[in-house]
Amino acid sequence: MSTMELSFKLNGRALTLNVAPDTLMVDLLREDLGLTGTKAGCREGECGACTILVDGTPMNSCLMPALKVQGREITTIEGLEKADGSLEVLQEAFMGEGASQCGFCTPGMILTATALLKQNPDPDEGEIRQALSGVLCRCTGYRKIVQAVKAAAKARA
Ligand code: FES
Ligand code: FES
Repeated sequence: MSTMELSFKLNGRALTLNVAPDTLMVDLLREDLGLTGTKAGCREGECGACTILVDGTPMNSCLMPALKVQGREITTIEGLEKADGSLEVLQEAFMGEGASQCGFCTPGMILTATALLKQNPDPDEGEIRQALSGVLCRCTGYRKIVQAVKAAAKARA
């Protein structure tokens, strides 16, 4: 199959590569670029495990043709790590609150919470639950996840 040139910013770095038109963003990230922090779950837009930030907005990468990110800024969970290798405050909070068990939903949760806290630095529980409603967790019962987002908001304040 013929390929097309795709240029975008990934975790702060400009990237140009050749991509087949039917490549999905989740597969480009995981298989071609080795960024396996983005999870492939249902592949139907239902679970949110594949969430990435596109220009700061959480989106399902399993439904997104890779060519759609032309010129956009993409953030994956790998992009949250600081230059010195330390974790971002939300990642620390998820660890501190025990908000991750199997971890499958965690990248999508943290990226979605990143977008929430940027828009609303002090969300209440209802706002957190609403923001995270597109990402499903089978393990935690959500309570600790909500606590972690609150803890991160407090730590940043
Ligand atoms: Fe994309 Fe489930 S894998 S929403
Ligand atoms: Fe296992 Fe959320 S920690 S699905």
